[in-house]
Amino acid sequence: MISIKQLNERDIELCCELDSKTISLWSKKQWANEFKKDGTKIFGLLIKNLVIGICVFQVVLDEAQINYFVVNKKFRKKGFGSYFMSYLIKRFEKLNLRKLLLEVSESNVTADRFYSRFDFYNVGIRKNYYSDGSHALLKEKKLTTK
Ligand SMILES: CC(C)(COP(=O)(O)OP(=O)(O)OC[C@H]1O[C@@H](n2cnc3c(N)ncnc32)[C@H](O)[C@@H]1OP(=O)(O)O)[C@@H](O)C(=O)NCCC(=O)NCCS
Repeated sequence: MISIKQLNERDIELCCELDSKTISLWSKKQWANEFKKDGTKIFGLLIKNLVIGICVFQVVLDEAQINYFVVNKKFRKKGFGSYFMSYLIKRFEKLNLRKLLLEVSESNVTADRFYSRFDFYNVGIRKNYYSDGSHALLKEKKLTTK
């Protein structure tokens, strides 16, 4: 059974574990900071009790910025990422948000294609943003507010 729920600080170990097995973006201390940040929310995609996906986003005025979006490697290419993203988009639209923003490495072809399917468009570039020298693409999706 698939479900999506908001995570809280008690779930920090789960976040660190999935992160360490995927993109290794944040240390435990950084995850702890994310849980404390104003306007930041952390959602998990679960199969039964297993967290297989995590999204960290921050809402500022009428925009949401996705700062982290990952699906467990074993569960990729099965539609789980799309299910999770569709849920989040509907949620943001219900909140009457206008825009969804994120950054992705230009070398991350899989994620780039994934976001294109959700009508994210390139709106900027941060040159040499990542430690390997690759550029970050800034992407934006216009939300349909009711
Ligand atoms: C990007 C990411 C979240 C996608 O998650 P996912 O669960 O694999 O997403 P989906 O399964 O919904 O879609 C991925 C692809 O699988 C395909 N797919 C979905 N279900 C499928 C199925 N049953 N059989 C075959 N292919 C399938 C989709 O069509 C899609 O292909 P496309 O991108 O060529 O159109 C995942 O690759 C990931 O975690 N990457 C590492 C982290 C990352 O890069 N995050 C983004 C940077 S912020």
